[in-house]
Amino acid sequence: MISTTELSHPHRYVPATAPDKSPILLLHGTGGDENDLVPLGQTVAPGAALLSPRGKVLEGGMPRFFRRLAEGIFDEQDVRRRANELADFVHDARNAYGLTAPIALGFSNGANIAAAVLLLRPEALAGSVLLRAMVPLMDPPQVDLHDKPILILSGSDDSIIPAENAARLESILKDAGGAVDHRTLPAGHGLTQADVTIAKAWFAQR
Ligand code: MLT
Repeated sequence: MISTTELSHPHRYVPATAPDKSPILLLHGTGGDENDLVPLGQTVAPGAALLSPRGKVLEGGMPRFFRRLAEGIFDEQDVRRRANELADFVHDARNAYGLTAPIALGFSNGANIAAAVLLLRPEALAGSVLLRAMVPLMDPPQVDLHDKPILILSGSDDSIIPAENAARLESILKDAGGAVDHRTLPAGHGLTQADVTIAKAWFAQR
């Protein structure tokens, strides 16, 4: 078995204080790191174990979870490779820390890789909260999400993600059998208090 220090991604792990709750996989945005979303995770899912990897791709020194060719234009070969790598990390981390399948909580680039993992390696995740996510793959494979709970929170004034793109992501995940709740908030690409409130209520039902 791989030990916690041998895991493929640098990461932070915060053990559960409420072990009955699903662990949370925190996935930061471009330029973030493994520390960024820990306070958010503690706020929206108090007591849950937090597993927070750092993206392994660097763009001008900024960590990300996959390569992009331009803002919103992805290197899909790298999306596939990195989503598989992240799913392998989750598998190994589950064994190392003794965890059940986590629910992903991803923001922006982290939400996009979470969507890619759902479509490529659905067994890796028990569900997902996708904050400001877009379609990660133009031609996603056929997959069965078996009613996995998925919350998508989009911003009506998001300058990076067109509304049409977020709507397409909702359709792809619904068509794949996900139990998708998609809401559009009066917000831009950045998170607002409403994101925190809605995500917290959603996690409280899990
Ligand atoms: C991405 O590259 O994943 C999206 O453009 C969001 C971002 O990280 O800015």
